[in-house]
Amino acid sequence: MEQLMRNTLLFLSKNRTANRAAKKYGLRFGASRFVAGETIDSAIAVVRELNAQGIVATLDHLGEFVFSREEAIESADYCIRTLDAIHRAGVRSNLSLKLTQLGLDISKELCMDNMRRILDRAKQYDNFVRIDMEDYAHNEVTIEIFKELRREYGATVGLVIQAYLYKSEADLDDLDQFKPNLRLVKGAYKESPEVAFPNKEDVDRNFIKLIEKHLLYGNYAAIATHDEKVIEHVKRFVKQHNIPNSQFEFQMLYGIRVQLQQQLANEGYTMRVYVPYGNDWYGYFMRRLAERPANVAFVLKSMLKK
Ligand code: FDA
Repeated sequence: MEQLMRNTLLFLSKNRTANRAAKKYGLRFGASRFVAGETIDSAIAVVRELNAQGIVATLDHLGEFVFSREEAIESADYCIRTLDAIHRAGVRSNLSLKLTQLGLDISKELCMDNMRRILDRAKQYDNFVRIDMEDYAHNEVTIEIFKELRREYGATVGLVIQAYLYKSEADLDDLDQFKPNLRLVKGAYKESPEVAFPNKEDVDRNFIKLIEKHLLYGNYAAIATHDEKVIEHVKRFVKQHNIPNSQFEFQMLYGIRVQLQQQLANEGYTMRVYVPYGNDWYGYFMRRLAERPANVAFVLKSMLKK
């Protein structure tokens, strides 16, 4: 039953008619629990609140379905405006983005040009840009682009590695030559067992393995999970190996495990919350519901209250 619900939600996340209908009705129906509004001002207000609680942020201007050069350039402009707004407001936040938003499916050159414009601005502000990892079809080219940009921009750019892919351990080993800042995640897309561990226990085991390896290499790790078992394991592991708190941070999504976020910040760990904003919030919202169908009950309740 839960699997059926998950597949339905993932199907709806890609459905354009549902997307258009959702946009028409704005951020009602509970999406505001996971999305920090449609405008940059509302997003900055959320980051300010988080900062006041000792939590830092990474802002993501939501965008999906980029079909033209114009849309890709516009999307990059939004990223630049987001960096400007962070700088102007003096809030503690960096930026996360997806390469398909910047035109990767149209041409690699277009995507690289957009990335260079964004990274030039980030470098000017001494800020940081994280390239999210998307589905398997984009994995290899995303790593290639990261390597090129890392050579040009150094520590201004970071990447994500997904523990559910068999290839990720080899990628992590190979990327060590760059001493990269990596966000490590379990992985969010539906992938074939030919490329990804089908069983959750194997994903969880590989996740721990990659985190430990990356930390022991001496590289910066952003450990992005809501899984308390993993978080407790990391806390023990860093103590055992004298890894300083400055070599890693925890990351969670806006609106998920909020108390745990606060607790980790209070304990003195760097806690960064991924804050998505923008009017293209529908696909992101549906994927969060699919991850945890129990959230659907929450959304239905908030709809009934309206
Ligand atoms: P898991 O799914 O095992 O959940 C562990 C526990 O966390 C659950 O039992 C529940 O208590 C809680 N939980 C998890 N999801 C929840 C939800 N939606 N609502 C309420 N509680 C929930 N993926 C990717 O492929 N590419 C990327 O670039 C990123 N980027 C990214 C950034 C950040 C900051 C985070 C936190 C996550 C990502 N992800 C991602 C998503 C990631 O791959 C993964 O799908 C989710 O984090 C869910 O996995 P967990 O590690 O939280 O564990």
